[in-house]
Amino acid sequence: MMRLLHIAFVLFILFLFVPTEMNGQSVRQSFLLEKNWRFFQGEVADGEQTTLDDKNWKNVTVPHDWAIAGPFDRAHDLQDVAVTQNGEKKATVKTGRTGGLPYVGVGWYRTKFDAPQFDPSSKRVVLKFDGAMSEARVYVNGKEACFWPYGYNAFHFDVTELLHKDGRNNTVAVRLENKAQSSRWYPGAGLYRNVHVIVTEKIHMPVWGAHITTPFVSDSLASVKLETTLEHADGKSVRMVTAILNAEGRVVAQKENEQKLNYGKAFVQNFEVLKPALWSPEQPNLYRASTQVYVDGKLMDSFETRFGIREVRIIADRGFMLNGKIRKFQGVCNHHDLGPLGAAVNVSALRYQLQLLKDMGCDAVRTAHNMPAPELVSLCDELGLMMMIEPFDEWDIAKCKSGYHRFFADWAERDMVNMIHHFRNNPSVVMWSIGNEVPTQCSADGYKVASFLQAICHREDPTRPVTCGMDQVSCVLENGFASLLDVPGLNYRTQRYEEAYSKLPQNIVLGSETASTVSSRGVYKFPVVKKDDMLYPDHQSTSYDMEYCSWSNLPDEDFALAEDHHWTMGQFVWTGFDYLGEPSPYDTDAWPNHSSMFGIIDLASIPKDRYYLYRSLWNKNEHTLHILPHWTWPDRVGQQTPVFVYTDYPSAELFINGKSQGKRSKNKHSLQERYRLMWMETRYEPGEIKVVAYDESGEPVAEKSVRTAGSPFRIKMETVHDSIAADGRSLAYIRVKAVDKQGNLCPHANGLVRFEVGGAGAFKALANGDPTNLESFEKPQMHLFNGQLTLIVQAGEKSGSIRIKAKSTGLKEGLFTVQAY
Ligand code: GAL
Repeated sequence: MMRLLHIAFVLFILFLFVPTEMNGQSVRQSFLLEKNWRFFQGEVADGEQTTLDDKNWKNVTVPHDWAIAGPFDRAHDLQDVAVTQNGEKKATVKTGRTGGLPYVGVGWYRTKFDAPQFDPSSKRVVLKFDGAMSEARVYVNGKEACFWPYGYNAFHFDVTELLHKDGRNNTVAVRLENKAQSSRWYPGAGLYRNVHVIVTEKIHMPVWGAHITTPFVSDSLASVKLETTLEHADGKSVRMVTAILNAEGRVVAQKENEQKLNYGKAFVQNFEVLKPALWSPEQPNLYRASTQVYVDGKLMDSFETRFGIREVRIIADRGFMLNGKIRKFQGVCNHHDLGPLGAAVNVSALRYQLQLLKDMGCDAVRTAHNMPAPELVSLCDELGLMMMIEPFDEWDIAKCKSGYHRFFADWAERDMVNMIHHFRNNPSVVMWSIGNEVPTQCSADGYKVASFLQAICHREDPTRPVTCGMDQVSCVLENGFASLLDVPGLNYRTQRYEEAYSKLPQNIVLGSETASTVSSRGVYKFPVVKKDDMLYPDHQSTSYDMEYCSWSNLPDEDFALAEDHHWTMGQFVWTGFDYLGEPSPYDTDAWPNHSSMFGIIDLASIPKDRYYLYRSLWNKNEHTLHILPHWTWPDRVGQQTPVFVYTDYPSAELFINGKSQGKRSKNKHSLQERYRLMWMETRYEPGEIKVVAYDESGEPVAEKSVRTAGSPFRIKMETVHDSIAADGRSLAYIRVKAVDKQGNLCPHANGLVRFEVGGAGAFKALANGDPTNLESFEKPQMHLFNGQLTLIVQAGEKSGSIRIKAKSTGLKEGLFTVQAY
């Protein structure tokens, strides 16, 4: 009997996975339109016509960002504005606000595609754009097929009727337009996300038509509900076969059901998963539902839906609960650009970013202030980062002259629905935020708009709580705006948390945006003082992590709020990574600054000192022991040069050239002393500083030292990406340093480095993290910034060695290889 059951089971599995074909033809095919796009920057009369000669247009691969190559220029999108959310009353010239890059204007893209096995009477063809910046008009074979204004959202549309009858040689033309003053940061330009062609049978599951929820979750049992919408199946009797597979590919539940579908009704299947492997940041366990759809005995569709089993709850006075455990968000906000790669999405770049954040102990990401690329959300599912997805920076009232308010009335609901449908199966997404610091907060009817948007979330996805990042605390506490949200989110204003907690009916407060501490990697200013809006002649900010903006604060305050109050939900730091644009505090006529200084990690993906401050509290698995500043100060001999140590150990002793500078222990005298060990009186002398850390019982347990560097001697390269896939897309980030004979980093080396990349890959980009640097990211030469920069190389499509040579006058050249496999 057992044997028979076993055979039956194996047959069933075969039956599940073989039939993705009907009459020898695939029932669903999906592919990307990546290569061989033609691009023209500027307006083109009749750009959509199939007869147009685009031979002389540039050949590009999508994802593509037309503006990232530069050149940087102060005149690009110069904005004369008062940034009211920063407390400004008078308009002033804002330089570099959107990155100083040529993103404004019109751009055209054209390509051709074949729809395989096309037959207009029995097949459907859909184009799906993951995002197109912006005001996209898409034409197929000369006819307008879709208009989608919001550059961050994904959209799709049926093009079946517009295709050539044989399915071949169809022309897609896309006109994009970015208006001046449409953004507060660098939005990117062009087809910066993927474009998909999806070919299905007429009866099929449409884009985002499968919705999975887990109505009951416990350690012993989870109930999984799959609701599938089908198109062109009205009145038909449909048989649906679904298997739930765990991460190892083992079937853990399965169902075969038959239902007659009436208009609009979804096909519902429920499953039980025993002893489910729950999803969490620590254990990002994933499942797949594999579904086949049959009508009249014929296979009509076959698709997979990835999901996770986890429970999200908000508890008054206690905050956020994941799988029955209260936890505080250790999150960061990020803009969507990838620094030197611009907005063009790249999976290996995103993965590297997330891995750096995970190592810091970060467990959550807020997509500020727009819909993310689907690749980012998938990676968060896989790597274990919770997400708060946020669609808007403005609603009906403008922040930017040509911002989203122009579209809000007509498009907000459609944009919300697409966003929610796109990401509601992703376990990483634990909360929606309906907006960021929208001026509507203070308008008399603002609460109605908030309630309208929150209701869309509840209707389309009843499982996730909704928040909004609010900065006008007095308004929102008074006017009912804050009290109607599932979760009140405060941006900064740490001094108002207690009041918000006691006044609001939810009895919880989320730090939806925090800190906005500013720093430049490798830059240290003296004397070391805590201060807001500090400006220096070199247009940098100190890495002693003591400077912030007038509206913001230092990390220590946010740490204390999370530790001291059971009703705080943790935070999303502004920001994980530096981004292009918004170069506060050097934003007012302060060219050449054109990228942010808020990042915990710089624009070149190199961690700043602040990274280790967060890591010392957030990473509970590994110890942190980090010393700052560097110890090469030829002009400071004998001068007071404070030393800070960021560590999870409670105390440490500092030695300068072997002489003890005393022991420091974390204490509550000040917020800084609570989280940092600081020697404020130390005087600089060349040599070695060493820190010895002590555990709770006073035992020395770890040590770290930094030495004064000699003259720059050679170029050193290192990477965590020793081997990358030869897929034409994968990237290796290589840290390039000037070091002395002993290998010490030379922190004042700022020479020009020239690169040659050959073999199985190509040069992709350079960045040095200097917010004032005007060198193009896309030329193979750049100056070091405080001794370092990052080189990015891209694998080709054949395996082999990628060979890198780095030359700089006066330094021994660097040779390095990365394997493409
Ligand atoms: C916030 C805003 C962010 C960013 C930040 C800089 O008020 O939400 O988008 O501008 O300030 O500190």
